[in-house]
Amino acid sequence: MSATSALPRSDGLTARRVAFDWSGVEVDRWHAPHPEFAAGANAISLLMPHAEPFVIAAVRPAASPSDAEAREWIRQEAAHAAAHRAFNTELTSRSRVARGLDRLGAWMFRRLRNRSDAFGLAFAAAFELVAFASARWAEAGLQKYFRGADETAATLFLWHLAEEVEHKGVVHELFARDANARRRYPMALLVAFVALIGFTVVGGLALFCSSRHVWNPVRWIRLVGWGVSLAFVLLPVLAMSLSERFDPASLVDPPWMAAWLREYDPVTETMPLWTAAGGHGEGQIAKRSARRLPSV
Ligand SMILES: [Fe+2]
Ligand SMILES: [Fe+2]
Repeated sequence: MSATSALPRSDGLTARRVAFDWSGVEVDRWHAPHPEFAAGANAISLLMPHAEPFVIAAVRPAASPSDAEAREWIRQEAAHAAAHRAFNTELTSRSRVARGLDRLGAWMFRRLRNRSDAFGLAFAAAFELVAFASARWAEAGLQKYFRGADETAATLFLWHLAEEVEHKGVVHELFARDANARRRYPMALLVAFVALIGFTVVGGLALFCSSRHVWNPVRWIRLVGWGVSLAFVLLPVLAMSLSERFDPASLVDPPWMAAWLREYDPVTETMPLWTAAGGHGEGQIAKRSARRLPSV
């Protein structure tokens, strides 16, 4: 179950601190129809408490204290990291492989902290684009990827992706003003791609290979197909971003995610769990009662 409490908002963005209750959820097996999808998603989750504090630390010096939108962006990213950290605590208690990946993620981002501020800001801009493109990919196959999944786990990943769409342009605006960061962008983009996608592939495969589903060829075919379809969405966006004139505002937002975030109720401080049930069309929200839980 999930619930949100709204933090103070700027005009454009709302930071929602979401509390997820993982009791009773098998976080290493949250997607019975597609355990291979859960393996990839869990690898991403394991990276987020290392990656998101890194991008926050990189962006904070570039934002002026009066920049309300940047402040809300920081709060959203901090809330994502906190939610994934809680999920990962459960996951690493169940899986030795997950514990190893958690240590690998920590090591990678410790190494990246030695780079310059300009590189960090360029990395953050690239990171945001990877997140946005991933959200586009996820929404395009919402039912295909998430139908049959545990609804709390699905809500964690989809809420995170939805807020990545909501704040897609914030870091780019800061990055675009910094000539040093711009110069470092091609290298930062390459590093971000290798760090994020490489970790997801290696981590997802490691988690999947440690499951009993590893011998099922259909799952492998599906995994390769999803990887290829993600590449078709991701690579053109990343290629476009190398242009000086690129502006993330020119990218069309996946519509359902924005609509879902609007379902957030500031009075009850809740938003509906994502569920595929109920005979709705693709991407429809089923307004199951969302209960308020203690915030983190
Ligand atoms: Fe995030
Ligand atoms: Fe983000």
